[in-house]
Amino acid sequence: MADASYNSPVDTIRLSELIGALSRALDLTEGQAFGHSLSSCLIGMQLAQAIGLDRESRSALFYALLLKDAGCSSNAAMVQEMFQTDDLAAKRDLKMMDWTQPLQAVRFGLSLAGRGRSAWTRLIRIIALAPGGMAPARQMFAVRCERGADIVRMMSFPETTAQAIRSLDEHWDGRGYPAGLTGEQIPLLARIAGLSQTVEIFRSTVGRMGAMAMVRRRSGSWFDPELVRVFSRLAAEDAFWSRLASDRPQLMAAVAALEPPEAPEMADSQRVDQVALAFAQIIDAKSPYTYRHSEGVAKYAVAIGRQLDFSPVQVREMHLAGLLHDIGKLGVPNMVLDKAGPLTHEEMEVIRRHPRYSEEILSEVAAFSSLAEVAAVHHERVDGKGYYRGVVLADFPQAHRTLPVADIYEALTADRPYRQAMSPDAALALLHKEAGSGVCPRAVTALEAALNKGEVA
Ligand SMILES: [Fe+2]
Ligand SMILES: [Fe+2]
Repeated sequence: MADASYNSPVDTIRLSELIGALSRALDLTEGQAFGHSLSSCLIGMQLAQAIGLDRESRSALFYALLLKDAGCSSNAAMVQEMFQTDDLAAKRDLKMMDWTQPLQAVRFGLSLAGRGRSAWTRLIRIIALAPGGMAPARQMFAVRCERGADIVRMMSFPETTAQAIRSLDEHWDGRGYPAGLTGEQIPLLARIAGLSQTVEIFRSTVGRMGAMAMVRRRSGSWFDPELVRVFSRLAAEDAFWSRLASDRPQLMAAVAALEPPEAPEMADSQRVDQVALAFAQIIDAKSPYTYRHSEGVAKYAVAIGRQLDFSPVQVREMHLAGLLHDIGKLGVPNMVLDKAGPLTHEEMEVIRRHPRYSEEILSEVAAFSSLAEVAAVHHERVDGKGYYRGVVLADFPQAHRTLPVADIYEALTADRPYRQAMSPDAALALLHKEAGSGVCPRAVTALEAALNKGEVA
């Protein structure tokens, strides 16, 4: 593979393509099927059309539906801590029950807390949760909603999009979270998004009839009865459901076709950077131990690239690759990610999947094809003993060999569940020891030069 083949046309991308692709990472964090956000978007936009929502509101809703789970990684560690179980599974199960009903909430807690442990351990866990009542749950929702709203603001989406996400879990009867808003106090876009996501969760889990029955049951409690009336009319038609059952490329195309402004919104390089930086924060928020990891990797990868006289296009790609290389980690449960002790073979296998997820997510953006490849090989080794493909990294272009060095250096110099941060000198010494077998010697020397010159710290 020659360096000359390396180019990166990431100057202008269709915004819906970029956000639609990255929404897959949010589905992973929520333990949902890969097309969850896209399908929720299709449901919501059909509702919006049926009620005659104006173009501007439809555009705001479109991105609210795709990014509704942007704050979800922020409470993953909290969910794991609260239930002492797989946060992905807990979040998936939580979505299937009516947690405003005390009996259902207790049953849920009992079934989940400390799953896989003895009945006694689970009971102790429930009692430990009880004194706070629903306060921890309220906090869990609040973190998710506020963080989600902040993240879409970072990406320059309108305030109406942020407000729709902020009020996503409010209920018509005032028993939702975080503010307990009632009826029309809840922004219309949030009411549509809340209904759409719940319909999609039930449709993909118990089917069309189960989803329709759930909506009827929760009309006037969770959902706006007027929206339920419109939904029921639409849901009687097969066409409403048939698009939702398609495969992922078809879903992407159907979502793109529903984008409201007739001229599709494009993301210039500045917007792409904003979106990448926002997603880096979503990725790093997943675990308290990866705080600012992606931004750090981007910083070191750019510094190495500059030392090695990369072109401006390549330097920019190092920046984006640093920000997004671990996007697949959103699919790793915190139980594994934050584990203090040694990992079992099965847990290692779960960790080893994340570069593949990163590759799958990023390769859905046509302009990100080389970026996806850089992310795919970020845990490969020069001698071919890395993961997930086990390819010989020495055969790859310099850019592919650069990111792993930046990634390892950042990880070594940050605190981890199983060890304290290493000093820069100790981290460099370790990288030099690995040079030639594990990592690329040129990239290590370039990193050391950049650190010595004070070009990066
Ligand atoms: Fe990684
Ligand atoms: Fe990483």
